[in-house]
Amino acid sequence: MNIGLIGPGEIGSVIVRKLRDAGYSVKMANSKGPDSLRELAAKTGAIPVSIGQVVQNVDILFIVLPDKAIPELPEGLLNKAKKETIVIDVGNYYPFRDDRIDEIENGLTDSAWVEKQIGRPVIKVLNTIVSNALAEAGRPAGSRDRVALPISGDNPKAKEIVAQLLDRIGFDSVDAGTIAESWRQQPGSPVYCTNPTKEELQQWLKNLDRSSLITNKEKGTKAHFAVEQRDPRTGAVIKRTDYQVIKRTDYQTIVNTYRSVHKK
Ligand SMILES: NC(=O)c1ccc[n+]([C@@H]2O[C@H](COP(=O)([O-])OP(=O)(O)OC[C@H]3O[C@@H](n4cnc5c(N)ncnc54)[C@H](OP(=O)(O)O)[C@@H]3O)[C@@H](O)[C@H]2O)c1
Repeated sequence: MNIGLIGPGEIGSVIVRKLRDAGYSVKMANSKGPDSLRELAAKTGAIPVSIGQVVQNVDILFIVLPDKAIPELPEGLLNKAKKETIVIDVGNYYPFRDDRIDEIENGLTDSAWVEKQIGRPVIKVLNTIVSNALAEAGRPAGSRDRVALPISGDNPKAKEIVAQLLDRIGFDSVDAGTIAESWRQQPGSPVYCTNPTKEELQQWLKNLDRSSLITNKEKGTKAHFAVEQRDPRTGAVIKRTDYQVIKRTDYQTIVNTYRSVHKK
């Protein structure tokens, strides 16, 4: 299976590594060009290409961008992809980073907005796990602590293929519904960044209340930043507020932080 990935940054580079470890053929692109990806290419064996090339002749295309970068993609980019290419959206909408997007604020799901921008249906997956958990929490099938990830999309066959891919990189999955319903796995949902087992994920997806999403998204983000701004070794407050501070803390601490937001 041939895979393309746009945006091998914080989580995209982990996806590249996991896919390569599982034996997939991967090419990748960013906005700075293939030369800027030489180090990641040497580490993983993924092939750096231009944005125009990354979408061509792939079975699956991962889009791993902050939402504000989506409209910056070259116009008509996805016309160069095969009709059958499964396009995956890993992104989340955060207004502090992406600026305000009125359509999302007015109720369109994050991924429905992405579909409108790129002119193609997407499968939403891998947006609910922090990068260091994705790097470290994969387990063999049947492990009691195997993490499960929600998959949303309008094409059941494509969701099955994505579920098989997740299984190969160490994760269970649960079909979470359509793209219109994919708010169920957006920030603020109890399934977001909480590393549920399959049983937990099935259970938690059943009792969701969309009206609590915004408040819980704010609480989760605040709690996450509070944890990230403490040096994990000394406990001292780190004076950086940059989003990229993330990932120095072990993933279980981050998971516990998100879980605590949803404790009754
Ligand atoms: N980090 C996580 O743990 C995590 C977990 C789940 C989901 N997510 C979501 O995944 C998305 C990416 O997050 P991240 O933390 O990985 O961000 P990041 O570290 O900032 O990486 C962003 C990537 O996108 C590329 N990029 C930015 N603008 C581009 C453009 N116009 N054209 C092509 N490539 C472009 C960047 O490369 P250049 O700078 O070279 O363009 C970089 O490779 C976000 O929506 C985030 O919410 C993140």
